[in-house]
Amino acid sequence: MTDIKKGLAGVVVDTTAISKVNPETNSLLYRGYPVQDLAAKCSFEEVAHLLWHGDLPDDRQLADFEQSERAQRHLDERVKRVIDELPREAHPMDLVRTAVSFIGAEDLTAADSSPEANLAKSLTLFAKLPAIVAYIQRRRHDLPLVEPRDDLGYSANFLHMSFGEVPDLTVVKAFDVSMTLYAEHSFNASTFTARVVTSTLSDLYSAVTAAIGALKGPLHGGANEAVMHVFDEIGTADKAEAWLDEALAAKRKIMGFGHRVYKNGDSRVPTMKAALDTLVAEYDRPDLLEMYETLAGAMDARKGIKPNLDYPSGPAYHLMGFDTQVFTPLFVASRVTGWTAHVMEQLSSNALIRPLSEYVGPDQRAVPDRE
Ligand code: ACO
Repeated sequence: MTDIKKGLAGVVVDTTAISKVNPETNSLLYRGYPVQDLAAKCSFEEVAHLLWHGDLPDDRQLADFEQSERAQRHLDERVKRVIDELPREAHPMDLVRTAVSFIGAEDLTAADSSPEANLAKSLTLFAKLPAIVAYIQRRRHDLPLVEPRDDLGYSANFLHMSFGEVPDLTVVKAFDVSMTLYAEHSFNASTFTARVVTSTLSDLYSAVTAAIGALKGPLHGGANEAVMHVFDEIGTADKAEAWLDEALAAKRKIMGFGHRVYKNGDSRVPTMKAALDTLVAEYDRPDLLEMYETLAGAMDARKGIKPNLDYPSGPAYHLMGFDTQVFTPLFVASRVTGWTAHVMEQLSSNALIRPLSEYVGPDQRAVPDRE
């Protein structure tokens, strides 16, 4: 029997210069920079530039980048109509996936996969996803679209379009930090999906649409939504330990815990937990922190399994006012930067991704003749 690596665990399938995940040192670098330093010192716009171009922008490059992004922020009427055609109860991830696919179908240059064309398409999706996600959030509450403001940075405008006002700077910063932390993580399932699609020489929109489908699952990006469902199911912190014992006895996977690569904690969690702490203080919700700490402590004590990024992000987005089902679309708005950087890297030295499988079905047999 061939040595099969289920889930490709531990298999190195290609090189990448975009990010480095190091589980031994619990670190994550984007193009060489520690992600916690980028979160502290840079805006998400600078991080997007870094992922696509390989370097942080200088002042002039940043001004040009921001101008191009701000010019494309509005939600096109036709995209809005497509969303409006779909059921209000449809999952927001399905709406976002459909909107991106629609934008791709409308772009008659979709097949142009030159680096310049793909960079332009990446920037378009980066600029338009906040409008799409914010509109989906508002439509769930029968609220009208809010027009973008081009005097605001990416995160302040995202929150403005979602809630009709710009919250305190601490909230904007916490949101911006989450965008930076979610942006890129090497060959995770959705990024690998984007690279597989790209490897067939399909277009960037198809790669992103497929990646959104992969991100939706609760073992991947869907976990930030699932964490909040767990908090709701538990109710109050005093019930967390008993709930966990029952869930583990039933062999349930506890959402927001564990990671394929990090086995001693996710490098991004301390930064996002610090952002969550500021939100808990801002909104005066110590109960949420108590739930967070109690469940994490109990999980560590029972299984030695630590939280991943989705664990602090879920309650952080809840405090900001997003509906639970909208959490994973927020992840999309961020990760589109990493996905598209990988699309361009894949094309720069492409080989069709086509692994092998070991056949374990019936031996060859004859098709019976019909009477
Ligand atoms: N809850 C309970 N047990 C867990 C968890 C968890 N969250 N994570 C791992 N384990 C246990 C498994 O049951 C298994 O135990 P066993 O050896 O006794 O059977 C062992 O730890 C190894 O787990 P695997 O699932 O084999 O590890 P894998 O590397 O395949 O899984 C994964 C990683 C999918 C993320 C897993 O930890 C999980 O399901 N977590 C919950 C979902 C989640 O939070 N996903 C977000 C990922 S991070 C991100 O997308 C930003």
